[in-house]
Amino acid sequence: MSPAAIEVNGSPVPELKRQLAFYGTLIHCLSSAKVEIIDRGLLLVDTHGKIANLHKDVSKDRIDALISAEGWELNFVAVTILKRGSFIVPGFIDTHNHAPQWTQRGTGRGHIIMDWLNKTTFPHEARFSDTIYAEKTYAACVDGFIKQGVTTACYYGSLHGEATKILAQKCLQKGQRAYVGKCNMNRNAPDYYRDASAEESLAVTEDFIAFAAKLDPHRELITPILTPRFAVACDADVLSGLGKIAAKDPTLPIQTHFNETPQEMEITKLLFPEFGNESDLYEHFGLLNSRSVLAHCIYMDEYDMSRLEHLQCGISHCPVSNITSGSFGVAPIREYLRRDMKVGLGTDSGGGYSSSIIDAMRQAFVVSNARKLMPDYDAAKDKPLSYFETFYLATLGGARVCNLEDKIGNFIVGKDFDALEIHTIGDDAGIITLVEDIDTTADMLEKFIMSGDDRNIARVFVKGRSIK
Ligand code: GUN
Ligand code: FE
Repeated sequence: MSPAAIEVNGSPVPELKRQLAFYGTLIHCLSSAKVEIIDRGLLLVDTHGKIANLHKDVSKDRIDALISAEGWELNFVAVTILKRGSFIVPGFIDTHNHAPQWTQRGTGRGHIIMDWLNKTTFPHEARFSDTIYAEKTYAACVDGFIKQGVTTACYYGSLHGEATKILAQKCLQKGQRAYVGKCNMNRNAPDYYRDASAEESLAVTEDFIAFAAKLDPHRELITPILTPRFAVACDADVLSGLGKIAAKDPTLPIQTHFNETPQEMEITKLLFPEFGNESDLYEHFGLLNSRSVLAHCIYMDEYDMSRLEHLQCGISHCPVSNITSGSFGVAPIREYLRRDMKVGLGTDSGGGYSSSIIDAMRQAFVVSNARKLMPDYDAAKDKPLSYFETFYLATLGGARVCNLEDKIGNFIVGKDFDALEIHTIGDDAGIITLVEDIDTTADMLEKFIMSGDDRNIARVFVKGRSIK
């Protein structure tokens, strides 16, 4: 479908035909330390898909009056009454995701990073030179993430401009909010899969950015993102060219991999001996700032940590990938939270075998416990994450990483309604730990996080539009 074909009233995202009302239990985070459980809540969504009001502790007989008080015609409002065991949470935000790796997820285990890239990933991503393959695979990829409650994704595309345009179109057509980037990589990759030159790499990037601006002029759902794969695969011309593009448009986000494995860090130092670390390197090229989304950030000394803190970079924690793809890395998430740095979760699908943010929440919890095995572990300073904190990372934390916290991440009035309707009881509840009569709402949330899956995600909303 061409971009023009989906444009409605100058916006590619149609207005809702009816306002929405949800009555029942709502759960969201107000900060990394504060989860709010709202029982008997009434959440109202206007036809722009924005949260118009959120009433707390409402008795059922007041629903109609409160809807009418908005000036809304009762007959036109789609009202959902949530039964016990069902609740609404903010949509999941996947802050690090390689769309062309959708069909290689979890394969090539046992190889460390450069071998895994050369043996498993590059041959696979090279297939996206075929736009028919890209159409089919990206449709399945976006559907798969929506099904699992990912309302916002930060996607790396392949290096191909045309395939990356298809990815952006698929997200828009299917209603997923997304950052989409053409992957830059002009060295240390095989001839059959690398940008022909720095000039070409930058030209394809600029062409993609121009395409995205036509597709979704106000970035209602789709935002282009600068995507240098990592410094190993980008020469100085590519990095400085991308830095110039970032400087020209200070609203463009940037994503790359940062301090992921010892091997990658050593090669980076050999390639750029003038920099002692990745912080100085990326900052020098204008790619490290409050718009940066940095995947992994595992091996951090005080210098790197304080540079990222000072520059207000976002951190994408990808625990499933970090402990199963060739090395075992345990990122210092407690310290990031202690410093109030921006940190969220990524599937890193397919370095991560799972495409589920629920799995990422669970494994974030596991990895935070694994820190106890580190020789310098300090029990007082490095408490494992709670399941509430993993829920924060998956929602409001991710929104902060993407600088979208004014728009999404929780149910503050005025934000877009990006949300999931969760069912923990009933025939559609899959194999979740059985919810019993004595369970509190917090118990149900814990059971969902620790044992739920996509079967518990009954409906998915982005900007109020139901997309699952
Ligand atoms: N570093 C460079 N490219 C990649 C990739 O595709 N996945 C991961 N996990 N790390 C990378
Ligand atoms: Fe990655």
